[in-house]
Amino acid sequence: MSSVEAFDVVDLIRTKRDRGELSTPQIDWLIDAFTRGYVADEQMSALAMAILLNGMERREIRDLTMAMIASGERMSFASLDKPTSDKHSTGGVGDKITLPLAPLVAVFGVAVPQLSGRGLGHTGGTLDKLESIPGWRAALTNDEMMVQLADVGAVICAAGSGLAPADKRLYALRDTTGTVEAIPLIASSIMSKKIAEGTGALVLDVKFGSGAFMQDYERAEELARTMVALGTDAGVATTALLTDMNVPLGLAIGNANEVRESVEVLAGGGPADVVELTLALAREMLTLAGQPDADVEGALADGRAMDVWKRMIRAQDGDPDAPLPVAKETHVVTASRDGVLATQEALPFGIAAWRLGAGRARQQDPVIHAAGIDLHAKPGDEVRAGQPLFTLSADDAARFPRALEALEGAYTIEDTAPPRGPIVRARIEA
Ligand code: URA
Repeated sequence: MSSVEAFDVVDLIRTKRDRGELSTPQIDWLIDAFTRGYVADEQMSALAMAILLNGMERREIRDLTMAMIASGERMSFASLDKPTSDKHSTGGVGDKITLPLAPLVAVFGVAVPQLSGRGLGHTGGTLDKLESIPGWRAALTNDEMMVQLADVGAVICAAGSGLAPADKRLYALRDTTGTVEAIPLIASSIMSKKIAEGTGALVLDVKFGSGAFMQDYERAEELARTMVALGTDAGVATTALLTDMNVPLGLAIGNANEVRESVEVLAGGGPADVVELTLALAREMLTLAGQPDADVEGALADGRAMDVWKRMIRAQDGDPDAPLPVAKETHVVTASRDGVLATQEALPFGIAAWRLGAGRARQQDPVIHAAGIDLHAKPGDEVRAGQPLFTLSADDAARFPRALEALEGAYTIEDTAPPRGPIVRARIEA
């Protein structure tokens, strides 16, 4: 290969700074040169900031996504004799939907290859939650994954470092340079990994509101449209649901307690909002895989989804019947007056659970599986003075004051509560 570089990265930074467009060869070179270490972190950071401020055209975002895919391996499920359908959530507080969803969809003969991550900051990670189950193993080889997909039909495991390595480096830079929130960068980051994973269909759960990446609905919708277009252009049947993340999902926020709640859903019970979203996403994933009429409620009610869950956990060395960890210390917060719980803001509850030890501040930190928050009331519920509103759990009582500080003003009791709309606000398709 020639040692002469095709472009000068400073020209590319200037182009974006001055609101110009980068060509396809420029973007291909940029990502390749960044992956090789030729483009320095500070140069890529400057470019990320220019993209955050000035945006990118749809063609540029597609080129960026394809270049990030080309930086690593591309998986294929073509050898499976069943369709594949996956889901990605942009993350929220109490979002454990992947846990009941993957086995539920697999009941219908559609394979679900869920390559998941660990949590950072106030949003939890699916792998952290599942690691509360004694023995459960997140790391699978590609061969193990294929065998499990063929046999059980659902896999939730760690994404290997081979998928879109350029995104991994770029994401780490964005995290430390205030450039995470750029829609072209979020969309290409998420979609490069999902397209490289090789799923045939993909449903995006794009969240808006207090506990979401995108606080306002319009920006969440723009992100959803951008990602749906990227998936569709790459030949992946992709749709998105825009869902409300102003209030925590369900009654459990943490790790072990979110597994417990997911198992309740798989047993045909569980909180109404978790069930509603699980069913909506399952219907969407199955529709894209050619089964619009699948009886998803029936599969939760009659134990078929639970059977797949147990097989899925056992296949990864977990014991689905083992007791989950329980915290050493608890602290109950009660209602100060009679009334109706009017607000319960997702973000402060996510931060409080994180401060209790359920989340991590640095990628290398461990999480405390038993730490978290159990809610005893949801907005709209009537409460009486002295009634428990929520319970904090931690291994060390010294964590309670900072968690309680995060929750100041996060919930209110009034005479009446504003009505809550449905969780799923819109469906976006290409
Ligand atoms: N998740 C990702 O994988 N990338 C982003 O940029 C944001 C969320």
